[in-house]
Amino acid sequence: MAFSDKLEAWYNDNGRTLPWRGIDDPYRIWLSEIILQQTRIEQGRDYYLRFVEAFPTVADLAAASEEQVLRLWQGLGYYSRARNLHAAARYIMDECGGRFPSTYEGILKLKGVGRYTAAAIASFAYRLPHPVIDGNVYRFISRLRGISTPIATDAAYSEFERLLLTLIDRRRPDRFNAALMDFGSLQCRPAPDCAACPFADECVALLTDRVALLPVKAPKAKPVDRWFYYFDLRWNSAGGGQTLMQRRAGKDIWRGLWQFPLMEADHELAPDELASSARQFAEENFQLPTFGYQLSAPFRHQLTHRTIHALFLRAELPSPPTVMPADVSAVDLGQIKNIPLPRLIDRYLQNL
Ligand code: ADE
Repeated sequence: MAFSDKLEAWYNDNGRTLPWRGIDDPYRIWLSEIILQQTRIEQGRDYYLRFVEAFPTVADLAAASEEQVLRLWQGLGYYSRARNLHAAARYIMDECGGRFPSTYEGILKLKGVGRYTAAAIASFAYRLPHPVIDGNVYRFISRLRGISTPIATDAAYSEFERLLLTLIDRRRPDRFNAALMDFGSLQCRPAPDCAACPFADECVALLTDRVALLPVKAPKAKPVDRWFYYFDLRWNSAGGGQTLMQRRAGKDIWRGLWQFPLMEADHELAPDELASSARQFAEENFQLPTFGYQLSAPFRHQLTHRTIHALFLRAELPSPPTVMPADVSAVDLGQIKNIPLPRLIDRYLQNL
């Protein structure tokens, strides 16, 4: 039996039913793929349904403000995905006459869309024969063919793509790709049940006892450490309470999200050093000459390329600060859930 027939037979019995399957609206497929780029299916499904409800078409998404889109994205992390999504929706409305691009190359021009996502959209929406290659597919195909090229590099992508182009079902590339994704994530798992696998008789890794050794992963760069000290400066607790928030700008992480006023250090501050830096920060930014605070437990927040070590300094002020930097605003504590925050700050607020 041909590879694609075997794979699709497995899919008939085992494939997942998902809200973005069996549709051909490129906008919805694109939305689902961007959400699923760094997110598990169970969590992604809820966000997908909320997004299509809030923004049923690309025109609706383009008409929204970036702030609205970030707010709906809140909790998913990797916010550049949301900013790119919004920018690409505007590009489709302004530069493509409101029509979603219908070629692989056209789709690849959208901000935030790489080869994997372009292949998914091209195959699911337009039935174009571009194989999808994600981590699950690398695992399955590297084992099936005994390929020890380190995965997830541009060179590996091209090598696996060339191979999969010889295997893809050109009549039903949409179905083939969905089957490939599901097989990699449900059957050819990190610790697979090879006795139940329809490819057991031809799997090079199984036949040569290398299942646990494949795929080969390229070594990862070590994340850079950063130390964040946030100032949660509150007043008027009896009347519901207010605090100060600042919108992140510039080229750094979390652009467009809100945070407590931040003092960043390039190393972990010892208690004395923190006390004197905090006093100086409060004096310089808010003209608070005396500054007593409660220190939170330490938070550690892992991003792909950074490890954030955070502490929150919470103070009850007798009155609102009369001076503050231009990018800082007073916010009602009751309203804070309605502004887009990094998950780290959410975690702090939930821990209070
Ligand atoms: N992961 C990324 N895209 C997916 C899709 N379309 N279906 C299931 N899992 C996915």
